[in-house]
Amino acid sequence: MTFNPLQEKGTPLDRQLRSWHEIVRRPFNKKDVDCYTRTRQIFMNGIEVEAWNFKHHFARVFDDNDVKAILSQIRRIEDMQQTTVNWLGPEDQTVLETTLGYEQVAVDLTAWLSQNEPDSYVKETFDFGLLEDFDHLYRYSQWAYITHGINPNDILQGQTDVILARPTQNHHNDNALRLRHHYDKATATPQTKVNILTLLSAEQQTHNYYAEHGFMYGNEGLRETYAEIKDVEEEHVSMYESLIDPTETLFEKLLIHEFTEVCNYYTCMEDEPDTRIKSIWEEFLSYELEHLKIAADLLKKYEKREPEEIIGNKIILPSRFKSQKEYVTKVLKKETGKRLGCNMDYSTVDKLPEDWSSYKVQDSVNAEGSPSERVVKLMGTLEGCDIVLADDALKRQEVTLLEKAYQTKSMAPDTVTPEELVNLRKFDLFEELD
Ligand SMILES: [Fe+2]
Ligand SMILES: [Fe+2]
Ligand SMILES: [Fe+2]
Ligand SMILES: [Fe+2]
Repeated sequence: MTFNPLQEKGTPLDRQLRSWHEIVRRPFNKKDVDCYTRTRQIFMNGIEVEAWNFKHHFARVFDDNDVKAILSQIRRIEDMQQTTVNWLGPEDQTVLETTLGYEQVAVDLTAWLSQNEPDSYVKETFDFGLLEDFDHLYRYSQWAYITHGINPNDILQGQTDVILARPTQNHHNDNALRLRHHYDKATATPQTKVNILTLLSAEQQTHNYYAEHGFMYGNEGLRETYAEIKDVEEEHVSMYESLIDPTETLFEKLLIHEFTEVCNYYTCMEDEPDTRIKSIWEEFLSYELEHLKIAADLLKKYEKREPEEIIGNKIILPSRFKSQKEYVTKVLKKETGKRLGCNMDYSTVDKLPEDWSSYKVQDSVNAEGSPSERVVKLMGTLEGCDIVLADDALKRQEVTLLEKAYQTKSMAPDTVTPEELVNLRKFDLFEELD
């Protein structure tokens, strides 16, 4: 690949200030948008939030007014980019529909990153998180059906399976166990650095979305499910950020942030079928090339270092969205019983010591049960089955085996075909619960 981001010319910073009309673009239509256009939109919003927030952190701990001035100038552009990207979401896309989009991002992005991650320990961590977000998608799909009567495939478009994975009630850990060994900044590849920051940004924004929207439903069980899964996303942020070498300097981190934005806009631009939205990715790639150049110049000026030592000289493709059913099924078959080990490693559920420190956390938070389990039982009561949207009978069989193994439910698992879902009535939950 010949594209060297450090050699490409971007849009000058003074031309990155746009009018409000240019900042706010027309939203996509939730009924005909490609599901991976929606995931790119959800995901790039997270990338921009991190780009903006990091520059605030930098300015708060670095006492130099010249640096603060340039940081604030770029930061404002990041913030305006965030507006453009996030405002592409349509007003009639419900919080739960958007939530399914967020978990589709988590599953299909993590699967892509994992298959393109050169560091085996980092890859193992990606796979571990993958099965947790995959289970969130299954839990939220039950709620989307109960609350709005929707077929989760209206959002997922058959690209991502909905299936039980490592049960969410088992995702709650002792915080110390979530911490991982960090990479060594001197030896880690640019790919590893970009992959981690990419996933971290997505997970952090998922947490923030649940934090800002989980209260917007009246149903207590759903409110509690958002609280529960939001807390798992907090664990995911802690886990992925702990993989980053904390001794990287602020200028080094700034460079990696801008490089991560460049790489992700580049991938979005290459993959986007919607020409109107593609032109936004193209425009913003050009903005980011300029940010990258500024970050590279700051590194040279303040640390007398060359950017190539840190990020290399070629583009990386960290966020290629495509169906990952096969890969996810492979991980699902092998790793559902995996748990965090006591030495920054991994263990399996049958090998955990009796005093495994996450048990204490689970006993506290699940003292009155786990809301993400309750919704599956609720579906069983209402419909006699939970929603499983998987491609083949083999996976459905797999669910049955998992169900037996974990014995977490009193109901028998079953499937609902997309056709059956089309004319489903909406439940009056309050009436059902009374
Ligand atoms: Fe940006
Ligand atoms: Fe998740
Ligand atoms: Fe997550
Ligand atoms: Fe940027």
